[in-house]
Amino acid sequence: MRRTAALVLLGMLTARSVLADNCTEPVADSSCLALLGKSLDGLSALGKEYLNMCYSLIVDYAEIPDLPGLVLDTASNGQRSYDGWILDPVMTVDMVQAGMVEPLDTYIAADASLNWPDFIRYFRQVSSVYNGTVTGMPLAGKVSTLYYRKDVFAMANLSPPSTWDEFLTIARAMNGSDFNADGVPDYSICWQVINCLEDTVVFSQLLTPMIQALGTKSGWMFDPVSMTPLVNNEAMLKALSLYKELLSYTVPLPRGAQCMLAHMPFLQGS
Ligand SMILES: *[C@@H]1O[C@H](CO)[C@@H](O)[C@H](O)[C@H]1NC(C)=O
Ligand SMILES: *[C@@H]1O[C@H](CO)[C@@H](O)[C@H](O)[C@H]1NC(C)=O
Ligand SMILES: *[C@@H]1O[C@H](CO)[C@@H](O)[C@H](O)[C@H]1NC(C)=O
Repeated sequence: MRRTAALVLLGMLTARSVLADNCTEPVADSSCLALLGKSLDGLSALGKEYLNMCYSLIVDYAEIPDLPGLVLDTASNGQRSYDGWILDPVMTVDMVQAGMVEPLDTYIAADASLNWPDFIRYFRQVSSVYNGTVTGMPLAGKVSTLYYRKDVFAMANLSPPSTWDEFLTIARAMNGSDFNADGVPDYSICWQVINCLEDTVVFSQLLTPMIQALGTKSGWMFDPVSMTPLVNNEAMLKALSLYKELLSYTVPLPRGAQCMLAHMPFLQGS
């Protein structure tokens, strides 16, 4: 059921920034609509920059499910307009098609202080781009990284793996070692996969290098031209069997445990 813009607006929170001490009055108000969430570090950094330039920034926050309708409603009925939006990039398609988004390529090319090539390539070339045009600036994003105990690798005279097969060999060989010297054998992998979002992240990363022989143009799960599923193949079987064995070396989360941003068993040395 489609909610009306008026109802949704009632559900929004508005935050107005306080001007910096050295500004007597705002140069101009800027307003933006942001999704209400945890990853707002980018927004608070942007807010500070705005304040230093004596702009005041008015931010309306809305819940994720309300945002798509709200954004497109503001474009079509003009009851409330924004200078910018802080959204998940999946919304870009509808917004570009509604003519709401200014292409940013020429601004980026003209702004040497931005250091655009320094942005992580995925954010710069994929999530910010629609139909060959940069349509948004990355403000916050997550990347996953593998980290390892340097002391354990040095003691076992191992180098960090550079393929998943090397990773498996090491995980298999090290599993059951006592990493924190408490007399109890430990698991060798500290992922939080069961019931945590890491499950899909880890599995995608096992599968991707096997199905994207030509890079991203090979497609992901579907052939980009024919939309034929790309899952019924040897790569998927290999990734599943790799994953299955890796899970047998992965420390199970205790019952009722929370998914954490940090890997507690790793931090605790086991
Ligand atoms: C106000 O002060 C901040 C912090 O010292 C500075 O970065 C900014 O440029 C100043 N703004 C103006 C308009 O003078
Ligand atoms: C992509 O951009 C081209 C022009 O550069 C335009 O003709 C085309 O309609 C656009 N396609 C979509 C799906 O927006
Ligand atoms: C990995 O090590 C843990 C801890 O010793 C053990 O419980 C588990 O059975 C081991 N996994 C395999 C597949 O041997």
